Amino acid sequence: MAKDENEKIVVGLDIGTTKVCCVIGEVTDSGGLNLIGIGHSISRGLKKGIVVNIETTVEAVRKAVDEASRMAGVEVGSVYAGIAGSHVKGLNTEAVVAVAGKNKEVTNGDVERVIEAVKTQSVPPDREVIHIIPQEFILDDQDEIRAPVGMYGQRLRAKVHVVTASVARTQDIIRSIEKAGYFVEDIVLQPYASSEAVLTQDEKELGVVMVDIGGGTTDIIVFSEGGVKHTSVVAVGGMQVTNDVAIGLRAPIETAEEIKKSFGSAFAGTINETEEIRVKLIGDRPDRIVPKRIVAEIIQPRMEEIFEFVSQELKMNGMDGKVPSGVVVTGGASLILGIEEVVEKVLKLPVRVGYPQGINGLVEIANSPMYATAVGLALYGAKAKSGGKSGLRSVNKGPLEGVLNNVKKWFKELF
Ligand SMILES: Nc1ncnc2c1ncn2[C@@H]1O[C@H](COP(=O)(O)OP(=O)(O)OP(=O)(O)O)[C@@H](O)[C@H]1O
Ligand SMILES: [Mg+2]
Repeated sequence: MAKDENEKIVVGLDIGTTKVCCVIGEVTDSGGLNLIGIGHSISRGLKKGIVVNIETTVEAVRKAVDEASRMAGVEVGSVYAGIAGSHVKGLNTEAVVAVAGKNKEVTNGDVERVIEAVKTQSVPPDREVIHIIPQEFILDDQDEIRAPVGMYGQRLRAKVHVVTASVARTQDIIRSIEKAGYFVEDIVLQPYASSEAVLTQDEKELGVVMVDIGGGTTDIIVFSEGGVKHTSVVAVGGMQVTNDVAIGLRAPIETAEEIKKSFGSAFAGTINETEEIRVKLIGDRPDRIVPKRIVAEIIQPRMEEIFEFVSQELKMNGMDGKVPSGVVVTGGASLILGIEEVVEKVLKLPVRVGYPQGINGLVEIANSPMYATAVGLALYGAKAKSGGKSGLRSVNKGPLEGVLNNVKKWFKELF
């Protein structure tokens, strides 16, 4: 096996509440990503996106990485890993500096200083900065600037989206990966990673909300004018839906999960009244015949609750009416029948289910919303790696993302 010292190999590791997924890709000469290995394992060491058992998480990480590594014929050394959980918080803030040069032409140094100025704003010692994502620069009275370098002015202001997480919870993820024998190249907010895989640049420019509904968490990210405007993570996901079905039908969890996936629907309105399913109940009681519509009536309120939360988040952050591209739902729980109808009912916006895009190679195996985060982590890694090489950066990265990587390094040094 070749060592992944090879700069072209990039590994995305999604440690989710229900599964760990490892994706190995090869960065092509044109800056694309060729998937060469995928591995997964059942995750039992997490609750609602947070590690609660390091040992079982280590095992699951090893298993998923081993599987992907064998498929790819590559030995994994380092990974890009995701982070989620309700301890993760996103907020918009800004900083301002005077343009330094005599002739008042903005340089890279000025851009670095203004972004750096954000870190002088207080971050509590128990929290660490995961991302600083520039939204826009304002030079004197001129706003909506994406790349201010080379422009003339006196005062440079940066509006940024900052994502922070609990130091302890972040360390739990890092420790689980390191104990499994891998180095963590970077930690990435899970919905930010998923958005790399499922959103188009046009959607991000026009305005879009992506909702990744996993097993234990629902992650929200809002883009507008190409930048991140809002992120949040809520501890509700597909496992609650399964739980509701189990309680509603008095069926064991495994049966409820199977029923949800095979016959469940998030929208009762379109279910034929006459369709029925056989349900195995808890204990030795005889099987029960249940109308499919009843199952949908159990699932629908929970799915509505999730999208009502999304609606509130949009309203509270002034993004209501600013997402004409609508909603992109992804994550395993977006596979439920009737998802489009329930989203349209609650949010009254256009909707599509997001499958990983922008990759070659083992596309068929990765072709599920469940793999959006893992594929997105590999895509994020590919961009970060090719960012060091001249030429590729301009192809793959907007000017804001180039700044992002530098800023992350400064913050890592500081906090
Ligand atoms: N066909 C399907 N219909 C409905 N739900 C499904 C289907 N397939 C998978 N799911 C649900 O998707 C959820 C798992 O999704 P996913 O793999 O994205 O979660 P995860 O990444 O492990 O968790 P998280 O991101 O919350 O930490 C489970 O609750 C599962 O029941
Ligand atoms: Mg997930």
